[in-house]
Amino acid sequence: KKRAPMPDDIRARKGGEPLVSLTAYTTQMAELMDAHCDFVLVGDSVGMVLHGLPSTLGVTMEMMIMHGQAVARGLSSAMMVVDMPFGSYEESPQQAFRNAARIMSETGAAAVKLEGGVTMAETIAFLVARGIPVMAHIGLTPQSINTLGGYKVQGRGDAGDALLADAQAVSEAGAFAVVLEKVPATLADTVTAAVAIPTIGIGASAGCDGQILVVDDMIGLFTAFKAKFVKRYANLGADAEAAFAEYAREVRAREFPAVEHLFADTLPEKNK
Ligand code: KIV
Ligand code: NA
Repeated sequence: KKRAPMPDDIRARKGGEPLVSLTAYTTQMAELMDAHCDFVLVGDSVGMVLHGLPSTLGVTMEMMIMHGQAVARGLSSAMMVVDMPFGSYEESPQQAFRNAARIMSETGAAAVKLEGGVTMAETIAFLVARGIPVMAHIGLTPQSINTLGGYKVQGRGDAGDALLADAQAVSEAGAFAVVLEKVPATLADTVTAAVAIPTIGIGASAGCDGQILVVDDMIGLFTAFKAKFVKRYANLGADAEAAFAEYAREVRAREFPAVEHLFADTLPEKNK
């Protein structure tokens, strides 16, 4: 079985075979995707996907660490990256280091991810210089939803130059990869050609150096809404609901449990 890549191995995949990534929040899902992904992200999307929060702003360090520990138990050949939650890194490089170090030591993550471009470059350099590999995340950054004014496409028209500057800043600061979320495809291609590190697209371009999706979105378990950039590869939510309905019907009809699910009062002949 192959060993998990390190952040430097991911960086070295720039321009090569596309990197494959999904989010995960539980051991079971991590186990199912382990052999198929280069890296797995414990995203702060966990707040919306598993905890019913209205945005990622309410996600805590404790949530990220608990889900990071669960995912780590399910991975052996994919690298694990854990998101830094809102409020855990923006104040200063020192605050970011303190919380990133805690995430790394308590979950065993190989790297952390944080949102921001030019603004976070100093913090990224501070972390990398102190042993913490950083994946950056620019374009639509959901933790800034209140200042971005909604989940709209980022970097259209004149805003493209600022997005390119963000990508260059995080690359020069030492990030080993950068997530591009919800940007025009042509801009994603321009950024991918311009920066030295792999771009990981979500609502970006097939020309990115890799792709990521939120697992519950792509298997149809999270159905509160579906972004245009999500492709549904399965409809497990509908399957689960049908199972719940059938179980309820069978219980009410006394069809479940059936004989094969029950225990006799005497031992079977072969066990005597
Ligand atoms: O939290 C998350 O799931 C993410 C990915 C969408 C990149 O940040
Ligand atoms: Na995230």
